[in-house]
Amino acid sequence: MKTMLKYMRAAHWRLFALTALFMFIQTWLDLKLPDYMSDITELVQTGKATTGALLHLGAYMLLCAVGTTLMAITSNYTSARMAASFSRDLRSSIFHKVQTFSKEEIDRFSTASLITRSTNDVVQIQNFVSRGLRMLVRVPIIVGLALVKISTRYWQWTAVTGLTVLLVLSVIVILIKYAHPRFRRMQRLTDEVNRTMQENMTGMRVIRAYNAEEYQMNAFETANFNLMDNERKARSVMLLMPSTNQFANNALTVAIYCIGAYPIMKAGSPGEQLLIFTDMVVFSTYASKMLMGVSSLEMIFNMLPRASTSAERIAEILNTDSTIVGGGYRGTEADADRKGGSIEFRNVSFSYPGTAATALKDVSFRADSGETIGIIGSTASGKTSLVSLIPRLYDATEGEVLVDGKNVRDYDTDVLRSKLSYVTQGAVLFTGTVASNVSYGKKTGFSAGASDAGGTGTASAAGPASGTDAAEDPEKTRRIWNAIDIAQAREFVEKMGGKLKGVVNRGGSNISGGQKQRLAIARGVYRDPEIYIFDDAFSALDYKTDRTLREALKDNFEGATVLIVASRIATIRNADRIIVLDGGSIVGEGSHEELMKNCNVYREIAYTQLSEEELK
Ligand SMILES: Nc1ncnc2c1ncn2[C@@H]1O[C@H](COP(=O)(O)OP(=O)(O)OP(=O)(O)O)[C@@H](O)[C@H]1O
Ligand SMILES: [Mg+2]
Repeated sequence: MKTMLKYMRAAHWRLFALTALFMFIQTWLDLKLPDYMSDITELVQTGKATTGALLHLGAYMLLCAVGTTLMAITSNYTSARMAASFSRDLRSSIFHKVQTFSKEEIDRFSTASLITRSTNDVVQIQNFVSRGLRMLVRVPIIVGLALVKISTRYWQWTAVTGLTVLLVLSVIVILIKYAHPRFRRMQRLTDEVNRTMQENMTGMRVIRAYNAEEYQMNAFETANFNLMDNERKARSVMLLMPSTNQFANNALTVAIYCIGAYPIMKAGSPGEQLLIFTDMVVFSTYASKMLMGVSSLEMIFNMLPRASTSAERIAEILNTDSTIVGGGYRGTEADADRKGGSIEFRNVSFSYPGTAATALKDVSFRADSGETIGIIGSTASGKTSLVSLIPRLYDATEGEVLVDGKNVRDYDTDVLRSKLSYVTQGAVLFTGTVASNVSYGKKTGFSAGASDAGGTGTASAAGPASGTDAAEDPEKTRRIWNAIDIAQAREFVEKMGGKLKGVVNRGGSNISGGQKQRLAIARGVYRDPEIYIFDDAFSALDYKTDRTLREALKDNFEGATVLIVASRIATIRNADRIIVLDGGSIVGEGSHEELMKNCNVYREIAYTQLSEEELK
């Protein structure tokens, strides 16, 4: 909760102060009513109760009631406004923070949990800030003002009121003790519901194809039931609260009246009796208002566990710093017109965070500027792990990864990544258009800060979803088409309604796997980098397209350094050098012919893929 307070801006505190002020006035007006009641009784008793005087006091009471309502509305408004604006700020802080996270942190929190935290958890805080804080302000005001008013000659009244308050408080504490852990579990169970829901959506095709609806339904039902069951248990015990309050309130009134009956009976004159009676009515009104105030604490305690759990969960995100922090190196003058960057791995070992197994063991190799290096190996041999160290999606556990002779950790991450086009295994597309997907991202030059090395800068600034970018700038349109041509994607883009403005759905769900891959390649080409990294990017292409595409790329590379990860020998056969990975280690390096002669692992892969004739 304390961390959350840090995120309250001055504007939020101002609204909070206004809320407190309005609530003070509201409570004050509210507590004024019994005073007028007592005045009226006094008028009646002293025989001065003319119609005019009564109407006069009645009008005041009416004004108080109207004022109370007005203040209640205004304080509701200011607190709701504060809560809404606070939660917007909180969501955007979370989003900014998550943007800085490396794969490691995302893996650690899990996507489902990050989503719950930035939605559901924020709502918990918002509820607490809008309603809970109001209560928290209101209760001391009510109790304080009521205490001032009910100083009385009968200490027994005060004692019985104090006792009842204590009783109500202890019931609250006992119930909360029971409910607290259950409210805490609630958020974790909500994560679980979201996770199954998310999996259900992303895996829809497989679920349908394998008739696994029932299995999924059961998984969801279990998570859903657990959440319901937990919530039921937590809430059902809290249901005892209103009846306890009601009972305590009634019992208190009865007790006050019983205590009052004695002095009233003993009083000498009817006038004195009436005086004590008036006192008693006023006292019991104040006492019950105070008791109501105290018991409304229950609502706070009800919300507090959930809100504080949510606050902890959000604070966990906000207090986590990415393990990948960029250095200050922004390159040199010479980098500006360099065509290809060199890559070097020096005794690199790597384990995924939180795992003991090593994904890469003592890997050393060099790719000089302008070279094309093929990387091949069986499934899980560490190919993706190897290339993901270059843009620093992860950091090497041991050893060094160097780009242009400089450790990647020393680079400003924007500058480092601007040197690269990384086409990932499994193409990723974003909601938007063909153009916004191809011209995606920004390039940062070596020295000039966010200089825009290829006219690409604004594409990302405008957001991939804007979709209006390409048409206005003919040069940009030409470059996008050029990239699309090279990626062999022209044919299907021309067929799409809107062509460059053709709509791409979330994750590219409206185009085929091979088409997605081609657009992802086009995105890499458009970036015009010093280093290309293709991680199994040609796997969904047929052999012919694979070859045409590689030839087109070759013409376009113009001295760029290229790493091609492939599972097909044909894809990398003509590379300058081929690196063979097996179980995370390099077991062979050389040309196709050399490896055929002296690398068993390579030969095995070759025999399973190429025909006798091709092998010769
Ligand atoms: N995010 C991760 N967390 C933990 N372990 C991982 C993670 N990603 C991969 N691994 C493990 O690291 C090892 C190497 O995986 P990697 O993805 O590099 O293989 P690959 O050669 O790219 O395989 P493929 O050809 O199937 O793409 C595997 O044993 C894998 O289980
Ligand atoms: Mg891989």
